Amino acid sequence: MNKTALITGASKGIGLEMARLHASSKGNLVLTARSEKELLEIKSELEAQFPINVYVIAKDLSSPDAPKALFDEIKRQHIEVDYLINNAGFGDYGYFSDTEWVRYRQMIDLNVSALTELCYLFGKDWKGRKPGKILNVASTAAFQPGPKMAVYFATKAYVLSFSEAVGQELNKQGISVTALCPGPTATYFMEDSRMKASGMVKRQKLPTPVQVAEYGYKAMLKGKAVAVHGTMNRVIANANRFLPRKWVVKLTAKLL
Ligand SMILES: NC(=O)c1ccc[n+]([C@@H]2O[C@H](COP(=O)([O-])OP(=O)(O)OC[C@H]3O[C@@H](n4cnc5c(N)ncnc54)[C@H](OP(=O)(O)O)[C@@H]3O)[C@@H](O)[C@H]2O)c1
Repeated sequence: MNKTALITGASKGIGLEMARLHASSKGNLVLTARSEKELLEIKSELEAQFPINVYVIAKDLSSPDAPKALFDEIKRQHIEVDYLINNAGFGDYGYFSDTEWVRYRQMIDLNVSALTELCYLFGKDWKGRKPGKILNVASTAAFQPGPKMAVYFATKAYVLSFSEAVGQELNKQGISVTALCPGPTATYFMEDSRMKASGMVKRQKLPTPVQVAEYGYKAMLKGKAVAVHGTMNRVIANANRFLPRKWVVKLTAKLL
């Protein structure tokens, strides 16, 4: 039977590539993001290419009522979701006090609250009834504090910690939770988060969203708990655990 994947942040970048990947395996899709026009174009593209149904439900997931409204709309349309891909997220590069508060508020609401509520709603809905898979897009930012991106790094540390813990609980119910941790990737995220100014990405050849999506999607199908994309990223993520915390923060500040 065709599996249905709900993908947040499916209008571009990693989320869009995950949608293309799932469609190519003849899976149905529920696509969400703020840009309805782009989502409808993607729906037309994918339905023309593959024998699938693509549903578009545009939402600003940083708005507190949006995750529940999205869940209710999916139920109202009698769509059975099998895979939940919590991918929507954004960051912001710069000194903590130089960014407007509203941007941090939206970042926490999107990266943390919306992701958590969707896991809660679908986890509860599936529990004891059907197996399911959750893919939460964290980041290599999850493994250390990030001066000049303090809030973003902290939201991703939350996503990693939350995914591992809740995965441990839900595994017993046949539900897997995977935390995907990409390093810097060539997407619109770089402009949106003003990351291009950071030493971490300047003059670097970054992986494409296709590479990251393929890696993450496979990890989700296997039910891996944590999937760090890229050999060097895996080495750094592991090395962080053995170095004194003070050094790790200083080194990250230098890199960023
Ligand atoms: N690119 C990187 O270097 C990198 C590295 C590690 C982790 N990540 C993570 O990967 C995920 C995907 O990022 P990306 O690189 O693919 O970035 P992207 O190209 O900027 O895509 C972000 C997606 O999130 C959606 N989105 C943003 N704000 C939203 C909101 N308020 N409500 C609903 N949807 C919203 C965007 O759609 P609309 O604008 O249409 O709403 C878009 O579809 C994020 O969680 C990010 O933190 C990225």
